[in-house]
Amino acid sequence: SEPAPVPQGLAGRTVVISAGGTREPLDPVRFLGNASTGSQGVALAAEARDRGADVVLVAANLEAPAPEGVRIVPVRTAAELLEAMRREAAAADVVVMAAAVADYRPAAFAPEKLKKDDLGDAVTVELVRNPDVLATIAAERPRPGQVVVGFAAETEPDAERRLALGREKVARKGADLLVLNEVGLDRGFGPGDTAVTVIDAGGAVRAEAAGSKASVAAAILDVVAPA
Ligand code: CTP
Ligand code: CA
Repeated sequence: SEPAPVPQGLAGRTVVISAGGTREPLDPVRFLGNASTGSQGVALAAEARDRGADVVLVAANLEAPAPEGVRIVPVRTAAELLEAMRREAAAADVVVMAAAVADYRPAAFAPEKLKKDDLGDAVTVELVRNPDVLATIAAERPRPGQVVVGFAAETEPDAERRLALGREKVARKGADLLVLNEVGLDRGFGPGDTAVTVIDAGGAVRAEAAGSKASVAAAILDVVAPA
């Protein structure tokens, strides 16, 4: 089941991209975060802009420099990201969830800084599940013909098993396309090179690309919206 690509490229289209990693606060100065810098989402935003799209970048704690010429919507937590994405997706031809969303958040937020004297030698933090932004957007489909793209960073080293995880995930999320990549302590994060496989809702491989995040962004957008 091939998704209908956005016709005639991205010129004049509205593209909403989330990038970075959410941070879930424990107290006013501490959070649970992840290793995402936002590099791939920023590269996608720059490439979509260069193709003539109106680009909205929903930016969760970016470490990569934000691109010029796109509208930035800053968010911190998964809850803020969900709210911003639902609002912006209403006008989007393409939605790309490149952000690393925390799957869980602390069940409680301490309004004052936590103190060791009150906590003792070992601490247990209770976490609760966050909403799934990608699945929510895909289920709501606020605009007919909208293309919804997810990402999946997997540590599974075997390419076939990684593909199987991606096929299960794209089906579970209801996305049109899923960009799969392998990550680890030494790969996948930051401004360096990357390698991805793009699959569609039916699990078919639509593109494989390796190289700079800019070149990979171009390969992804070629699948989303062929010129
Ligand atoms: N995602 C999301 N909201 C969440 C978690 C993930 O929108 N609460 C999105 C990510 O932005 C990404 C896609 O879902 O586009 C896949 O994220 P991933 O963490 O690989 O999938 P999960 O469903 O969280 O599964 P896992 O248990 O493997 O982490
Ligand atoms: Ca996850």
